[in-house]
Amino acid sequence: MSAGGRDAAARVTLTSLAAKKAAGEPIVMVTAYDHPSARIADEVGVDIVLVGDSAANVVLGYESTVPVSVDELLVLVRAVRRGLRHPFLVADLPFGSYEASEEQAVRTAQRFVKEGGADAVKLERAGTSVDRARAVVEAGIPVMGHVGLTPQAATSLGGYRAQGRTADQAERVIDGALALQAAGCFAVVLEAVPAAVTELLAPLTTCVTIGIGAGGATDGQVLVWHDLLGLSDGHAARFVRRFADLRSEAVRGLTAYADAVRQREFPAVEHTYRLPRDELAMLRTRLAEKSRLDG
Ligand code: KIV
Repeated sequence: MSAGGRDAAARVTLTSLAAKKAAGEPIVMVTAYDHPSARIADEVGVDIVLVGDSAANVVLGYESTVPVSVDELLVLVRAVRRGLRHPFLVADLPFGSYEASEEQAVRTAQRFVKEGGADAVKLERAGTSVDRARAVVEAGIPVMGHVGLTPQAATSLGGYRAQGRTADQAERVIDGALALQAAGCFAVVLEAVPAAVTELLAPLTTCVTIGIGAGGATDGQVLVWHDLLGLSDGHAARFVRRFADLRSEAVRGLTAYADAVRQREFPAVEHTYRLPRDELAMLRTRLAEKSRLDG
């Protein structure tokens, strides 16, 4: 075990991620927002866990990712950190926490590393985010970029829609990813872009590419925990595949519990604690004595 209590030999690092890319071994990334999920991701052996600002929607019930704060995400990052030994932990910088200046970006990234225990941070968009990414990398914190559909900028992108569907837009996506790579990002997420754009970008990248709705030409894939396990209700994006249906299972289990309570069928004898017969007799005597004295 390392000083931090994690098994250093099997830990995912920037070096092991780069080695996977070089070997053409697919990288598995998933979001997680709490301790039990982190423990499952660890047990399954995923490579990267992201505490995404998608927590705003899937955990905290906000309409978009815009309102979630650094303090709200930090609570989740710490919980996930406590559940992980092997995967590489990335924390999303939420909207408004890095755009204003390089100093702001570095300060926020430092909080996620120092207070949350993240290995790296992720920020969205290219443009000014490239300078913010460079500043955070220069401060010694690994950065993951994110281009294509960047939900923090959904309003200016015209909604939650695929990006890079014209030559101009596709060139912007490719240029953005390459600018983030040049700024020192160890990885870039490509969200909701045509597979053909990813295929053109792939041979130009030296950093790790992670896709979500970007086809199969990236080095790895990411999905949101609640989407892939079928915990979300309502509309799912085109790129989501449900690998389980945990929501139905949760509804079934909770309904069975409610029925059992209402029918007084739960708790049963095996769920209750026993008071030894002699202790019970003594208690009865004492209570009888008390009520005789009171009454
Ligand atoms: O916040 C998030 O979950 C993300 C992933 C979709 C990449 O940014």
